[in-house]
Amino acid sequence: MTKYIINGGNVLHGDVRVSGAKNAILPVLSATLINKGITRITNCPDISDVRITAGILKDLGCKVNLIKKKEGNIIEVDATNIEKTTIGSEKARLCRSSITFLGAITARSKEAEVAFPGGCIIGDRPIDIHESLLREMGIETTRNDSAIKTKLYRTDCNVENDKHVYLKFPSVGATENALMAAAGLTESVTVYGAATEPEIVCLGNYLQKLGVKIQGLGTGCIKIRGLKEYKKDIVTFKIIPDRIEAATFLISAAGIGDNIKIHGCETSHCLEVINVLKRMGTRIKEHKYTQDGEAINFLEISETSVTKRLNSPGIIIADAYPAFPTDAQSLILPLLSVSKGETFVIDKIFPKRFKAADELSKMNADITNTDFGIHIRGRKHLTGNKVQSHDLRGGAAMVIAGLLAKGQTIVYDKEYIKRGYDGISEKLRALGADITESQNLS
Ligand code: EPZ
Repeated sequence: MTKYIINGGNVLHGDVRVSGAKNAILPVLSATLINKGITRITNCPDISDVRITAGILKDLGCKVNLIKKKEGNIIEVDATNIEKTTIGSEKARLCRSSITFLGAITARSKEAEVAFPGGCIIGDRPIDIHESLLREMGIETTRNDSAIKTKLYRTDCNVENDKHVYLKFPSVGATENALMAAAGLTESVTVYGAATEPEIVCLGNYLQKLGVKIQGLGTGCIKIRGLKEYKKDIVTFKIIPDRIEAATFLISAAGIGDNIKIHGCETSHCLEVINVLKRMGTRIKEHKYTQDGEAINFLEISETSVTKRLNSPGIIIADAYPAFPTDAQSLILPLLSVSKGETFVIDKIFPKRFKAADELSKMNADITNTDFGIHIRGRKHLTGNKVQSHDLRGGAAMVIAGLLAKGQTIVYDKEYIKRGYDGISEKLRALGADITESQNLS
């Protein structure tokens, strides 16, 4: 358990760089199993979910090497020899993305057994869409009380020319499994109702580097044609920046920053968060140019709460991309709590993902839980208190609340925050925040 000790009120200044995206690196690490060779991934965040996933790859027989670099870490996976096709619950339950090994191992070895995944407790997290899409591809799936198994029987009768798979909901993880499982089939597969998140496009771009033919990435209809096998001696691949980390710094800056510059993020991935912050009264400008041959891009945010009280955006509806992301919903609650006016927040992805709201109420926030979402009445300020982190983004939301609050906030966190943020305390301290970490829980 880590406690984050934050003395609020320091105005943040300066520059911060966004790391590689957690929700992009994790499925790409699963997909490295498809290549019977080495994959060298750059811009890899050093977060605990990456280390957990690296541990799973090693268990399966891969050699994995994480090289820390100032300009962005490199993780190298040598998947030339795989020794097994099963992942037990001891590892699988450590993160949600372990489920994406199902498609990757099936593509490589034509069978897999993966224990049910873990993940943040933010609502129901079934895997029925994963199962149905695999079956629609002609891959047999069976379940026991702890794991899901796949088996691909090759018979002429089930090698139709073209398979059609329909997702009842644009599930991110299920779409990732669909792309990887289809990579292991030689007939073409069309996925309808696919997720369109940037992380899906990132995974698809990696698979294309291996030789998979993919059309429609970023749309709801993706067509994939795989190869019999993949053997690229070495593939290098760069992970996209983390749009949720970018949102974390944009929101923190909106709340207590003075002309903060956020480097390395992809503006087009953060448009709805930027739109909401602009609606609240901030000014956000994208700077993109080359200097001495190097591409420079950063977002500059000004006209923040430091100079005036921001306005409520009225309503926020978290939904599938490109809507306002569910992962940024908890993060913006502290800012809404000190803005002028009332806001209603609905989360159509995880309708009950509001544990952060309960903790904010301990910090003088005026928040009401309703059957459909939460109703926030803005107050002049938050007051520091001792609060709990119930999940990754809820924990980050408590850190943001501590930055904005008067007095001291202590966030008790069961290592959720380190699952998805590479050095959040160091980055915030570099901007002038008074934040320290301690393992001493007294
Ligand atoms: C991914 O989770 C992300 N995690 C989550 O980020 C993110 O919140 C979520 O996508 C939505 O954007 C990773 O990428 C590792 P889903 P995932 O399948 O794939 C329902 C974070 O903080 N559903 O798109 O598990 C499900 O109940 C984490 O970084 C089914 O009904 O999300 C939910 O209501 C938290 N059946 C909705 O779909 C299924 O088989 C979205 O889930 C699968 C999902």
